Amino acid sequence: MKKIYVGNKKYNMSLMEHKVIQHFLTFKKTYSENRLQFKLPKKCKSLTLLELGCGAVPVANHDSIYIGIDIVPQLLGYMKENNPECHLILANAKQLPIRNQVIHDVALNTLLHHLISKTKTQSNKNIDNVFNEIYRITKTNSTIYIRELFIGNKLYSWIMYYLTYLLSEFNIKFPSLGLYDGTIVNFLTEKKLKQLIETNGLITIYRNLEDWMVKKIKLGKKGWYILRKRIFSAAITRTYHTTT
Ligand SMILES: C[S@@+](CC[C@H](N)C(=O)[O-])C[C@H]1O[C@@H](n2cnc3c(N)ncnc32)[C@H](O)[C@@H]1O
Repeated sequence: MKKIYVGNKKYNMSLMEHKVIQHFLTFKKTYSENRLQFKLPKKCKSLTLLELGCGAVPVANHDSIYIGIDIVPQLLGYMKENNPECHLILANAKQLPIRNQVIHDVALNTLLHHLISKTKTQSNKNIDNVFNEIYRITKTNSTIYIRELFIGNKLYSWIMYYLTYLLSEFNIKFPSLGLYDGTIVNFLTEKKLKQLIETNGLITIYRNLEDWMVKKIKLGKKGWYILRKRIFSAAITRTYHTTT
């Protein structure tokens, strides 16, 4: 773990998280200006909506108090300029500076595959941590909206992770082909997602996916999952870090 300065604040960041920050910093202008605003699959009418990995554009169609969290301060700066009513927190989704059971609903729009670590197994563990944090901070009956890209099978998932890792280490990019822009990506299979949902006391209540095509090749599926907290989840015996 390394202490990294963001502005004049010091944060505990792994080197891989530092890589993610550098990636989004490089693309911050085009990314912020061109990013489309995505609609939730169902309107969120809860009191608070927390978006993890919000980037520069908040998810649309909610009447809630909106709180956005991201690890890249410049993206939050852009978001604040265009959406002054949004509350924004610079933090890591793996360790949220939020008390237990205070948030109504949570949204994640293409965050999970960016939660990378030095190995594929550790990267999956990061996603597990984020689900664990979501469980900790949400109220009973909260709704969790997840928009993600899901790779077709486990082998593709491993190849994609280690290939993008290698290309990133050697700084090889193919942006003009629209194929690879330097990010390391850990795409889950739907099977792995379901396992993470299950082990973190959540259940799927809605799923709306379409084919994920790149240059006429089908890589998997993309779209929305909606989850709920399981009301009686005796299986959840994990200890949470508490934020006071
Ligand atoms: C593909 S972008 C999506 C941004 C936004 N949700 C959207 O759809 O426009 C992924 C976002 O996740 C953020 N991110 C990556 N790792 C993170 C982490 N550990 N904690 C919080 N945010 C993170 C990145 O900075 C980036 O803004």
